[in-house]
Amino acid sequence: MTDPQLVLAERVQQALGTAFGSEYAGADPLIRPSQFADYQANVALSLAKRLRRAPREVAQAIADALDAGDVFAKVEVSGPGFLNITLSDSWIAEQAGRTLADPRSGVGQTTPPQTVVVDYSAPNAAKEMHVGHLRTTIVGDSLVRMLEHLGNRVIRQNHLGDWGTQFGLLIEHLLDIGEPNAIAQLQAGETNEYYQAARAKFDSDPVFKERSRRRVATLQGGDPETMRLWHLFMDATVRYFNKVYDTLGVTLTDDDIAGESMYNPMLAETCADLEAAGVAVISEGALCVFPPGFTGSDDKPLPLIIRKSDGGYGYATTDMAAIRYRVRDLKADRILYVVGADQSLHFQMIFAAARQAGWLPDSVSAEHTQIGMMLGADGRRFRTRSGESVKLTDLLDEAVERASAAIAERGYDEATRAEIARAVGIGAVKYADLSVSHDSEYIFDFDRMLSFAGNTGPYMQYATARIRSIFRKGGVDPADATGPILLDEPAERDLALQLLGFGTVIENAATLAEPHRVCAYLFETASTFTTFYEKCPVLRDDVPEATRASRLALCALTLSVLATGLTLLGVPIPERM
Ligand code: ARG
Repeated sequence: MTDPQLVLAERVQQALGTAFGSEYAGADPLIRPSQFADYQANVALSLAKRLRRAPREVAQAIADALDAGDVFAKVEVSGPGFLNITLSDSWIAEQAGRTLADPRSGVGQTTPPQTVVVDYSAPNAAKEMHVGHLRTTIVGDSLVRMLEHLGNRVIRQNHLGDWGTQFGLLIEHLLDIGEPNAIAQLQAGETNEYYQAARAKFDSDPVFKERSRRRVATLQGGDPETMRLWHLFMDATVRYFNKVYDTLGVTLTDDDIAGESMYNPMLAETCADLEAAGVAVISEGALCVFPPGFTGSDDKPLPLIIRKSDGGYGYATTDMAAIRYRVRDLKADRILYVVGADQSLHFQMIFAAARQAGWLPDSVSAEHTQIGMMLGADGRRFRTRSGESVKLTDLLDEAVERASAAIAERGYDEATRAEIARAVGIGAVKYADLSVSHDSEYIFDFDRMLSFAGNTGPYMQYATARIRSIFRKGGVDPADATGPILLDEPAERDLALQLLGFGTVIENAATLAEPHRVCAYLFETASTFTTFYEKCPVLRDDVPEATRASRLALCALTLSVLATGLTLLGVPIPERM
């Protein structure tokens, strides 16, 4: 254990047990960073009442019982009963040295590992993959990277919208324009145009409408020729999705596709089982679950409709089948749904209904990781000027072009410049999505995300490139910068202390499903490094050999923390910038 906050918490709890008896050893020590010391423990204030003693007296008793060992340099009671704790320099230096030698830079393993199902990306084949899906894709992918790095068994599920009545008209339109044309259009990502053309015919041409109706029936019946056409349509569409994933450097593959169509054969049984268990009842001709606690505006119980009165199944039916499959067949301990915040009620009701049915036991957690809407500069849903949704490949191309323009003056040859521009452009878009809390709305703004200052992708990438350039200039390989670490200057101490917190940040981000915590931490780390680098010359001639070795070791540890962190976020790292 290298995280000072955790070490501290453990020691304070031991002291609580020693001072007041074992029933107090479990109290939260309430450790916070402090202005006056490294940390403060506020537990005395909360325990005073329970102990019927003055808070300062309680704090003093803890201080007296605290085994400072070689960890703490100073423990002081202050104010109404805070415990101010200063770590010893030698302990920090030793922990920093250990973290440097640790290939995982202080990130532990979840014990026991969990099976985590992560439902993310999930674009719809009948519509365009839009910026909303971009964000669920990017946030979801960083979560799977972190969960996997922590040793969990992660199962990605790309719940594609690849089924439903709209496939009747999509397939008939495919026949009208011919297979090669359809494939070309879909692969190019023009699903929106394709759908609109099909829809227009459906609305104006009764013959086409009738054909589409019949096609829905043959699709549902599993007719081989119709299935062949459906596959043709989906393959071309997925090829476009894969192109976007590839550009983004997202870890989803075809093996992770588990779209709505996959659950189609299970839907009748899903409904039958819920009805037989008495969880679902017929209401106005439809089969519904009324999970407790959900009421509409009129105070009437709110239904989750799992079979419409015409016998058709819907989005909720599929999600009921999916949650059962994920628990029973995939053996999930935890299921994350990285999906738009506007679907919050849907998921609350699915989880409640699944609990009611006994399909989601208390031992399994189901969480909706709500994704906030991406807004345009006008504060409305992000669109092009003409009001259409923005094509993702165009958006990503523009990010790369702008990045290329931003580094034009730096004198790179064309190939290098293209490579850096790609990493910077894509990294900027991804980091912008990750650095704000996932449920907040935010304005998509190229200028801000591509800025080299502030909590942005380019700033973080630049921070790593700058450290690499120190090593290049010094003719040292970061792997050879093994210290030992000496903490003579406050800026060295601050940096070392900051670096010790990395493991806990990754664990918390994975547990809470909040990648923005990692961004905030990395940004703070880069800023702490900047101060260190301003105050503490590394390569200058007058720097003594041992100091130089120590500072290079701090540079190497910073580099590995920043690089590991960015990799876990899924943000590419150019070697130089
Ligand atoms: N395709 C859906 C959409 O674009 C998202 C699916 C999310 N996952 C799920 N299990 N419902 O809104």
